[in-house]
Amino acid sequence: MTTDPTTQTLAELGDTTAEKVAARFAEVRARFDQQVAVHSAGRDAEEWRVFVVAWTGRKSSVLVHVGDNWLKPAPKELKPIVGQELNKLKAHVEATLEEKRKEIEAAAEQAAAARDQIDLSLPGVERAIGTRHLIRQTFDELLRIFLSIGFSVVEGPEIETPYYNFEALNIPEHHPARDNMDTFYIEGSSAAADKRGTAVKHLLRTHTSPMQIRTMEKQAPPVRIVVPGKVYRRDNPDSTHGFMFHQIEGLAVDTDITFCDFKGTVEYFVREFLGPKAKTRLRPSYFPFTEPSAEVDATCHVCGGTGCRVCKFSGWIELFGAGMVNPAVYAFVGYDAAKLSGFAFGMGVDRLAMMKYGITELPLLFQNDVRFLRQFP
Ligand code: PHE
Repeated sequence: MTTDPTTQTLAELGDTTAEKVAARFAEVRARFDQQVAVHSAGRDAEEWRVFVVAWTGRKSSVLVHVGDNWLKPAPKELKPIVGQELNKLKAHVEATLEEKRKEIEAAAEQAAAARDQIDLSLPGVERAIGTRHLIRQTFDELLRIFLSIGFSVVEGPEIETPYYNFEALNIPEHHPARDNMDTFYIEGSSAAADKRGTAVKHLLRTHTSPMQIRTMEKQAPPVRIVVPGKVYRRDNPDSTHGFMFHQIEGLAVDTDITFCDFKGTVEYFVREFLGPKAKTRLRPSYFPFTEPSAEVDATCHVCGGTGCRVCKFSGWIELFGAGMVNPAVYAFVGYDAAKLSGFAFGMGVDRLAMMKYGITELPLLFQNDVRFLRQFP
């Protein structure tokens, strides 16, 4: 078994001459050189630290042993030589360790840089920002057309009183449209009083027309408004019906509005919405709050008017209901029926969207299936 020579004194080792001392130091130096060569870039950092401490640490390192065991007890005549040799060894060890440390650090830095390199060819992280729903897009398109000819947008409550939903629109108490079956009444709603102080139930509005009344109550003529919103009906769900759909109401009232203004506005709207080739037709109809009333038809957007399956070979597609405001309505809002005239219309947004984009199933609009929605970016 070989004992570490640095744990013994030079006398114990039998090194009594300068040559022998030098040889002994050379041996230690060779041992150091051999060990240091093993350490290189990428090796365990802890192993390196232990190695450095073993040679240069303040307690029981090789250099400390050499100082304690070789230098301190050395006889006077050898001491200068041992001192010189120790200094040389120390300088060599420290310089070598420093050099090696730099090498290892530089290599580690390079490795980290290589690891962190940005690969510009990788696909980026794409964040889906979503799109507006087709109903919203259609609302925006419709509103844009009316805003461009001087209408402004107002909105109103979905929970209404029978007074605004029916009565003030000239739909009297026993009119078929007030049938329970067509309307959602709200059970146990607070019994607010209507205009005549009668306690009333509430209901979900069946059309946006109540906003005609609410607007005229608040505002003196002239009035030019469009009202986007949700409406509710007790319809049985099928491919074109649900319990809820969307409407845009329109109302224009002034001192000199004629049927020509009504027709011109409707025609302008149809051309803007369906394209310059679309023609318009007014068909007699009935609404209690307009007189005369009309259904607005447009030439079929599929066949252009020649007749096809979509228009049931008539060449026409029904767009919406409209008419000149019934003077009876002015009485409910305190407008002077003798001086004022106007027109109103109410269009189904879902219907118009389905027609324009060739959608045959209404429920698709509300199922939030992205495979459907993505078709309308
Ligand atoms: N409120 C009617 C409906 O929902 C539409 C309409 C509005 C008709 C305004 C004429 C004037 O069917």
